[in-house]
Amino acid sequence: MQLSIVVPTYNESPNVAELVRRVGLAVQGIDAEMIFVDDSTDDTPDEVRRAAVTATLPVRVIHREDPVGGLGGAVIEGFAAAESDVCVVMDGDLQHPPADIPELYRRYRAGDVDLVVASRYTDDGSAQGLADRSRVMVSRLSTALTRAMFPIRLKAVSDPMTGFFLIDRRAVDLEGVKPRGFKILLEILARQSVRVAEIPFRFAERHAGESKASFRQGLHFLRQLTALRFGKMSLFAIIGGLGALANLAIMWGLTHLGMNYLVAAVIGAEVTILANFALQERFVFQDMKGEASGVWSRFAKSFAFNNAEAVIRIPIIALLVNTWHLSSVIAAAITLAVAFVVRFMFHSLVVYAPRTAGKRSLAREVVDELDAQAVSPGEL
Ligand code: GDD
Ligand code: MN
Repeated sequence: MQLSIVVPTYNESPNVAELVRRVGLAVQGIDAEMIFVDDSTDDTPDEVRRAAVTATLPVRVIHREDPVGGLGGAVIEGFAAAESDVCVVMDGDLQHPPADIPELYRRYRAGDVDLVVASRYTDDGSAQGLADRSRVMVSRLSTALTRAMFPIRLKAVSDPMTGFFLIDRRAVDLEGVKPRGFKILLEILARQSVRVAEIPFRFAERHAGESKASFRQGLHFLRQLTALRFGKMSLFAIIGGLGALANLAIMWGLTHLGMNYLVAAVIGAEVTILANFALQERFVFQDMKGEASGVWSRFAKSFAFNNAEAVIRIPIIALLVNTWHLSSVIAAAITLAVAFVVRFMFHSLVVYAPRTAGKRSLAREVVDELDAQAVSPGEL
C-alpha cells in the first residue's frame, strides 16, 4: 500500500458515494486505500460500506462509539489504522478536491519533505468555497494571528488551518500530539519539527449537508492557540493576573460603599479565589481533571492552599522589610512572584495529580511534570 486516505466524518452520508467515486478516479495508478473515521449519528457508516462494494480501491470505516478529540482525534485514529505510513487527510464533504491527491503524493515522492500542505493561500490556491464573507474574514484573520504567533515554525506554511494535507506518519510522534477539535495540522506543526512543502488548491463548495464548524469551535481554537503558544503556566498566570485585578476592583468598590478595608480585603480575596478556581478548572487544567481526584477534593486543596498562601505571605513581607530593609512594594512583589510559581507547582503536582501515582520517584515526578506543563510546548 502506497497511500492511505483518512477521512474524518460527522454526518456526511449524502457525500460519501460521490467522494469515494472521485477519489477512486483520482488515484488510478497509486496503490491507495480509504479509511473513514466516523463519529456520525446518521447512516454515514452504512453509506461507506455500500460505496465500498463498488469502489475501485479498498474502503473501510471505523465508527467510534466513544468519539474522543473530535475531528482531530478521528484523524489520529485514522493514522493509527492506516496500512501505509503515508497518509492523506481530507474532509468528507468534497471541499477538498480529490483530483489534487496525486499532486500531494507527487510532491511527497520528491523525497525532501514529510508533510505536504494543500494551501488555499499560496499561488493560485483559493478559499472561495468558504460559506460566506464572514467565514473568509475569520479564516484570514485567524491564519494571520496564528502565523504571527509561530513566526518560525509556520514560516513555510501559508495555510496552517487547512484540513487537507499529506503526512508521513513516521515523521511525527503521534503520542505527542494532543488532538482537540478542528486544527489538527496546527497541533502537529506547533509541537513537532517536520519538513514541509506546500501545493496550492482551490477550496470548493460543500457538495451536500452543512458545516460543523461553529462559534464554539472558534473559541476552542483560541484556547488551543494560547495553550500551544504559551503552555499551561502562562494561562495560569493570565487567570491569576485577572484575578488580582478583580480582587482590587472588589476592594475598591466595597470600601467606597463604606465597608471596613480589612473586611473588604477578605471578601475580595475569597471571591477571587473562588473565581480563579472555576476558571482554572475550565481553561487551564481541563485536560487533567479526568484523572485527578474529584472536584470537591480539588477545590478543598486549592482553597486551602490559596488561603494559607495569603496568610503566610503577610508575615514574610514583614520579615523582608524588617530584616533585609527592602521597600514594602518590592517585598510584596517578590512574595507574589514566588507565590505564583509555588502555586502553579502545587496545582499541577498536587491538586490535579492523577489519582493513581505510578512508581516514579517523587523527584522524577516533579521534574517530569514541570517539564511537561510549564515548558512544553513553549518552543521558538
Ligand atoms: N470524525 C469526526 N468527528 N469528523 C468530524 C467531526 C467530528 O467531531 N466534526 C467534523 N468532522 C468532519 C466533517 O464531517 C468533515 O468531513 C470534516 O470533518 C470537516 O468538517 P466541516 O464541517 O466540513 O468543516 P469546515 O468545512 O467548516 O472546515 C474545514 O475547513 C477549514 C478551513 O476553513 C475543515 O477542513 C477545517 O479543518 C479547516 O480548518
Ligand atoms: Mn467542510
